[in-house]
Amino acid sequence: MNELPSKPLSLQDHGSRHHGAFDPNYERHFRAVSQPIYQTSLFAFRDFDDMANAYAGNPGGPIYARGDNPTVMAFEREIARLENTEASRAFASGMGAISATVMALVEPGDRIVTVHNVYSDAYRLFETMLRPMGVAIDYVDGTKTDAVIDAISSAKLLFLESPTSLTFELQDLEKLGQTAKEQNVITVIDNSWATPVFQRPADHGIDLVIHAASKFLSGHSDTVAGVVTGRKDLINKINGSTFPYLGGKLGPFEAWLLLRGLDTLELRMQRHAQTGEYLATSLFKHPKVSQVLYTGFSNHAGKRTLHGHSSLFSIILDETVDIRNFSNALRTFRLGVSWGGPESLIVPAAAVLHQKYEISAFRHFQLDRQLVRIYCGLENPSDLLADLEQAIDAGTTS
Ligand SMILES: Cc1ncc(COP(=O)(O)O)c(C=O)c1O
Repeated sequence: MNELPSKPLSLQDHGSRHHGAFDPNYERHFRAVSQPIYQTSLFAFRDFDDMANAYAGNPGGPIYARGDNPTVMAFEREIARLENTEASRAFASGMGAISATVMALVEPGDRIVTVHNVYSDAYRLFETMLRPMGVAIDYVDGTKTDAVIDAISSAKLLFLESPTSLTFELQDLEKLGQTAKEQNVITVIDNSWATPVFQRPADHGIDLVIHAASKFLSGHSDTVAGVVTGRKDLINKINGSTFPYLGGKLGPFEAWLLLRGLDTLELRMQRHAQTGEYLATSLFKHPKVSQVLYTGFSNHAGKRTLHGHSSLFSIILDETVDIRNFSNALRTFRLGVSWGGPESLIVPAAAVLHQKYEISAFRHFQLDRQLVRIYCGLENPSDLLADLEQAIDAGTTS
C-alpha cells in the first residue's frame, strides 16, 4: 500500500478567512459570524456623479448582480485565498466555469490540447461547440508527459484534469506548467477531485484552476456551482467577455451554501481520504476485483503535487460479475452521477455507455464496461465495504 500523504495543505495558510471577525464588513453586518446573503438584483447609485463615474469605469461598488454580488464576491475571494491565486470568478455550474473560461481564451483557428478521459461534458463542449466554430482539439494520453509536451507546441490552451474523474490518470503539473509557460500556452486545470486541500495547481505554475463547486467544495449535494481562479489578466478576459455576455453568474444563496461548505472542507477531505484508502486497499485484495484505479496506488510523477487522495476512484470487476445485478444489490451506495456530498454513490460504465448522444466521451475513450466508479461519502467505512462485498457476491454469476 502506498503511504497516505502525511500533511494535507492547510486551509489556514493563506491570509484571512471569509467571514466572522475577519470580514472587512464585520461591524456593518452587526458582527454576524456568517456571511450575509445579499438577495438583490441591483445596487442603487448615490447620485448622478456616482452613476457617471461607474459608467466611466470607476464603480464605487457592485452595480447589478449579473456582474458582482457581495455574497458571491466573498466566495470568489475565499477560493482565491485557498488556491493561492490572484482573482476568481464564480458561475452557475462547473460547466459554466469551463465553457466561459475556454471560450474567453480561444478563437477560431486556435488549438486546444487536452487529455484522454477528460470530463465527459467538457469533451462534449469541445466536440459539439468548439470544433464546429473552427477550434482544433487534440486529445493526448496525459500520463505521457513527453507526448503532451510535443502536442502543445503552437497550441493556445492546455486543458488538464489531474486525475481524470473516471479513470484517475494523473498529469505532471510541474513539468507541464513550466513547459507551457515557456511556450506561451495557457494552462487550465479542473481541480474538482483534489480541492485545494490536496492540490494547489497554481503553486506549480498552472494559470487557471477550475472547480465544479457542486462537488467537494459544496460538500452537501445541495448546490450546482462552478468557479475559475488564477491569473488576474486571464480572469479579466473572462470578465470582459463570456462572464457578462453569456450571463452564467452564480446566485447569492448558492454562494452562501458554498461558503458554509468551505468551513468544513478540510475536515471532510481528511475523512474522505481515510475512507477512500480503506476501501481501495480492501477492494484491491478482493478476488473479483481485477483493478483498482486509485491515485494512492499510482507511481506517476503527477502524484508529487498531490497532498492526499480523495474518495472517488474506480474498480474494474471480473467478467464473472454482472454489473446490473451488482448495482441493483447495493443498499448503502446509490446510483448517481455526482460526488462530493455525504452520501456514497456509484457510476457503472455499463450504464453510461448507453448515452444517447452520437458524441460520447465514454465511447470515444473506450471506457471498460466492467468499470464501476465509486464515491465514498461520509458513512461508516466498514458499512460501505460490507455493502460492496455483498453486492459483488450477489452479482457473481459463476
Ligand atoms: C470533474 C468534473 N468537472 C466538471 C463537472 C461539471 O460540473 P457541473 O455539473 O457543476 O456543471 C463535473 C460534474 O460532474 C465533474 O465531475
